[in-house]
Amino acid sequence: MATLAMRAITTIGSCMQKYDVIILGAGAAGLMCAAQAAKRGLNVAVLEKAEKPGKKILISGGGRCNFTNIGTTPSNFLSANPHFAKSALARYRPRDFLALIEKHGIEWHEKTLGQLFCDGSAKQIVQLLLDECNDALGKVDVICDAEVTEVVKDGPANGNGTFGLIANGASYSAPAIVIATGGPSIPKMGATGFAYDLARQFGLKVVEPRPALVPLTLGEDDVLFRELSGVSAPVRARAGSGKVKGSFDEAALFTHKGLSGPAILQISSYWRHGEDIGIAFLPHSDPDWLIQMKRDHPRAGLRKALSEHLPDRLADALSMKLASTLGITTEFGNVPDKILRAAAAQLADWRFRPNGTEGFAKAEVTIGGISTTDLSSQTMEAKSVPGLFAIGEAVDVTGWLGGYNFQWAWASGVAAGSACAETFG
Ligand code: FDA
Repeated sequence: MATLAMRAITTIGSCMQKYDVIILGAGAAGLMCAAQAAKRGLNVAVLEKAEKPGKKILISGGGRCNFTNIGTTPSNFLSANPHFAKSALARYRPRDFLALIEKHGIEWHEKTLGQLFCDGSAKQIVQLLLDECNDALGKVDVICDAEVTEVVKDGPANGNGTFGLIANGASYSAPAIVIATGGPSIPKMGATGFAYDLARQFGLKVVEPRPALVPLTLGEDDVLFRELSGVSAPVRARAGSGKVKGSFDEAALFTHKGLSGPAILQISSYWRHGEDIGIAFLPHSDPDWLIQMKRDHPRAGLRKALSEHLPDRLADALSMKLASTLGITTEFGNVPDKILRAAAAQLADWRFRPNGTEGFAKAEVTIGGISTTDLSSQTMEAKSVPGLFAIGEAVDVTGWLGGYNFQWAWASGVAAGSACAETFG
């Protein structure tokens, strides 16, 4: 245990502001947790380093915030322990958040695949959370421009001590604190790995953080595809292996760096350096569709067959590649069936080996984070440090694209907020 955590709280400062619980970070998870704890009568401080709360909410969903997904199940999340999220997700469901949306009169719509968005603006979600904080039995002080730089606990970390914090020169104390400072995705918004440093300070493990929901980059071997920048097509994208594998039927977009679009963002969470991804360009076609084309249109060629289903530039690139690997250069009538079957198989599982991702700068979320082995799945409290909680993106629970990450922020925030109220109220 670092000596910092053992240091006497009295060294922090004389003018201490005392609360029942202090939440670090006024993002989705932190604000939800604050509202829940205050509803049950607690006096809460939310310390936020930015100048205003909920900045990631404001830019989410293209400004309309995809605030939940009505089809949320634990299988929509990745974690070293896939069971961890079950309890919190079962106790706070998408319909519970939808009930809040209705209570606040926010107009919404379902886009695709169960994704719910505001009709108006993501600002309404931030306002909803602040209104919930204000409309509570207890009090919530959301204190902005308050970057937490130091946290100590008096007495041993595993005892029932008080936490002391310093944020922007001011001192705060509480018997419970909640780490809700998110992950390092989008550093230009001020995102950092602070949650991990703090967790490690108190002896909690951290699962290696990686960028997720992020575009993948292709190397020189795939320059032909990088030249397709701007072309998009519906595909089935696959990545991963064993129990950790994903398959998504959505659009892929070629970019000048490689691959993006919803299908690629989804599988980026399952992809590891050195592995291939598989793309089915015509995911619903029969394995013998090219042989059937040969029977029906023996004078046609591969480029024409592909351009009936795919954008012209993509059909050009794929037929050029297949010409070089399988030698399909003439009309179908002259190509043996087994070559056509091999071409259809390659189109159904086109292998790309990305050479990287576009990194945290472009990642919608971070995969990995504070290890769930050190947290209670019921309360989000650290098993070895009473009064220390962690929620939201800071924790090793990462959702798919499509409103799942906010649902985790709400559910984990509610779990921790209620547990704080039960223990520290
Ligand atoms: P979040 O990052 O929101 O909040 C953490 C807060 O802690 C921040 O306000 C930060 O400033 C503060 N903080 C950090 N360090 C601090 C310190 N030392 N002291 C004090 N404060 C500190 N998800 C989804 O479900 N639907 C969607 O539509 C989208 N769209 C989307 C778009 C884009 C561009 C991005 C980058 C992400 C999304 N997401 C999303 C993901 C979603 O935004 C994300 O999962 C949640 O915001 C995570 O909420 P948290 O509260 O855990 O962290």
